[in-house]
Amino acid sequence: GDPVRPAPRNSGSLLVDNIGELVTNDTGGEGGPLGIRRDAAVLVEDGQVAWIGPARYAPAADRRIDAEGAAVLPGFVDSHAHLVFAGDRAAEFAARMAGEPYTGGGIRTTVGATRAASDDQLRDTVRRLRGEAMRQGTTTVEIKSGYGLTVADEARSLRVAAEFTEDTTFLGAHVVPAEYADRPDDYVGLVCGPMLAAAAPHARWIDVFCERGAFDVDHARAILACGQAVGLGVRVHANQLGPGPGVRLGVELGAASVDHCTHLTDADVGALAASETVATLLPGAEFSTRSPYPDARRLLDAGVTVALATDCNPGSSYTSSMPFCIALAVREMRMTPAEAVWAATAGGAAALRRDDVGRLARGARADLMILDAPSHLHLAYRPGVPLIRQVLHNGVPQCR
Ligand code: NIG
Ligand code: FE
Repeated sequence: GDPVRPAPRNSGSLLVDNIGELVTNDTGGEGGPLGIRRDAAVLVEDGQVAWIGPARYAPAADRRIDAEGAAVLPGFVDSHAHLVFAGDRAAEFAARMAGEPYTGGGIRTTVGATRAASDDQLRDTVRRLRGEAMRQGTTTVEIKSGYGLTVADEARSLRVAAEFTEDTTFLGAHVVPAEYADRPDDYVGLVCGPMLAAAAPHARWIDVFCERGAFDVDHARAILACGQAVGLGVRVHANQLGPGPGVRLGVELGAASVDHCTHLTDADVGALAASETVATLLPGAEFSTRSPYPDARRLLDAGVTVALATDCNPGSSYTSSMPFCIALAVREMRMTPAEAVWAATAGGAAALRRDDVGRLARGARADLMILDAPSHLHLAYRPGVPLIRQVLHNGVPQCR
């Protein structure tokens, strides 16, 4: 039968009408894994989705946006980004493209530049990258610290990050800074003690780079446990540069997400499949470090929940573009376009344990994008093309 028409609206309502293909990620009914509806309309009120239905039943609203038959998707949820830093490492990138390997050693270069920057310089960088991402459809972004690595510099990194997102992540355990190089135990003590105390009021999450050359599994477990003890959720950078114990540590601690997952054993895949932990894949990092891509197909076929994120940072992945990551995931990681779009929206929301974003349904945040294309397929099919025509964030059209 016909859906019930909503009652007449108060002021402030906005109708997005004439949507050719609406991706809802609402899989309760028809429409395949993306919950696709044809010829739909979305009513927005008070920053939320108030109604979704066939365009022919669309209610009157104060304002109207005509999607002209284009595709509309939930805003991208970029669940892994390092936006608080200063300087860049373009020369390091150029050297890699000439044959140098990526080791993570350049992190200390960015730490030096970040410590020397003013709060306003850091804020301006985050604002610039946040704007870049928004213009490419990203309406939710997680932001990590991790280029300060002193009590004061980690705390201010998180204070700046919190001006731009609810999903702030304390990554004091990114690398051991140079001044602690010969006494890593002391640095772990600093991270778990005064640095965590200063960071926790501004952070929702704690993260550790668990990798050869960064933090071993015992240090990583100790740091993550300290964060959990003060109420932070757990995420782990794991198995990026080689196989290791990071992924299983994340599963053991009930991490919301383990990120990178480039080098996995069957035991790692099995542990993820039996858990609630999301595997977040970051193909921008493999692109920019000229490394083999993670095997998304293997994870999906095992039943693991997969998210896609940018890893935006000045060293290993200096892109803010979720459409670029979708195109890489489809072309290089054998994800279907539908799987990649889901991973970049609902998958990112799962990795941040959020149900208010990453989907379009009554009560969800009115975060959505209108494409300059008839279908979500075009995000992978037309790589490098600016296909995001309009973005609504909290129901508010963003300036282009
Ligand atoms: O996610 N893996 C550790 N951290 C970043 C790289 C940071 C950098 O090179 O500056 C990453 O790839
Ligand atoms: Fe990262």
